[in-house]
Amino acid sequence: MKDILIMGIESSCDETSIAIVKNGREVLSNVINSQIKIHEEYGGVVPEIASRCHTEVINQIMKEALKEANVTIDDIDAIAVTQGPGLVGALLVGVSYAKGLSYVSNKPLIAVNHIEGHIAGNYLTYSELEPPFLCLIISGGHTHLVNVKSYNEFEILGRTKDDAIGEAFDKVARVVGLGYPGGPKVDNLAKEGKANIDLPVSHFDNYDFSFSGIKTAVINLNHKNPNLNKADLCASFEKAATEMLTTNVRKAVKEFHADKIVLAGGVSRNSYIRDSFDKLSDELKIEVYYPEPILCTDNAAMIGAAGYYNYTNGERADLKLNAVPNLKIGE
Ligand code: KG4
Ligand code: ZN
Repeated sequence: MKDILIMGIESSCDETSIAIVKNGREVLSNVINSQIKIHEEYGGVVPEIASRCHTEVINQIMKEALKEANVTIDDIDAIAVTQGPGLVGALLVGVSYAKGLSYVSNKPLIAVNHIEGHIAGNYLTYSELEPPFLCLIISGGHTHLVNVKSYNEFEILGRTKDDAIGEAFDKVARVVGLGYPGGPKVDNLAKEGKANIDLPVSHFDNYDFSFSGIKTAVINLNHKNPNLNKADLCASFEKAATEMLTTNVRKAVKEFHADKIVLAGGVSRNSYIRDSFDKLSDELKIEVYYPEPILCTDNAAMIGAAGYYNYTNGERADLKLNAVPNLKIGE
């Protein structure tokens, strides 16, 4: 069978990335230009600056992606682009660029949901992984527990009622003085601390999550007692936030008789969360999967992988394609 090459384009937040992916499973190139250094001084992503940076670099990133994969645009079967969710101005840069490239190169255009992209990041790490499985997407913008029924069918079982988990990590990092982006910094500092501070973990009858109570408790404790050990605070935060995740996953695995749980999104890089899911894997006798670190945070290879499954499913976008900042999974 002929190989299918998909060009993935991602610009939903602060990474401009273009990748070439073979048959939905193999990364030929995955060029990522992160704007972290630019946004660092503002303590978070500034949407207008993000859009402007995408515009400046996107064409160069495309050329590098082709060169690294050792292919030309003629070799590409389709162009897949993140349509949403994300920052509207940032998304529009990628969508408009993809439309232009699709038009001039006469290649089909494929719209990709960013969250479905995060899930597909796992197909690039595990060549044997196939749906159905339960997937926990934990990122800066999203916290979803999803029943992945097939490559193109998704059922959301639960979602956060307030902050995304990554947002809570970033906020905690900011209040304890670690700076942006906070997730990896909390991860490192927590390793030096003890999870000896009790924080409130919400429990729901369904599969929803909540992180704002845990986050606010950390902020208040830190405010009232500035001498509190920051490493202990970080470790306690991670323990409480992870308990919120494992409680729901444990429940869902039992109800759905799942034999695998797949993690995705930037926060799935977290070492405490990975350790906790490894333990859960032993406890529940299930397989746990998480993408290699570079495929956890935003990148275009995951968009190319998800785009491949949309392409082979016959989905095609046209030049009316628009960015949808609150695009829902499965739409
Ligand atoms: O998936 P991603 O790149 O962007 C979104 O789609 O949101 O996730 C970024 C998030 C940020 O909140 C960042 O702090 C968090 O992932 N993150 C981590 C770690 N590495 C990245 N959070 C906890 N521990 C980490 N090691
Ligand atoms: Zn993301």
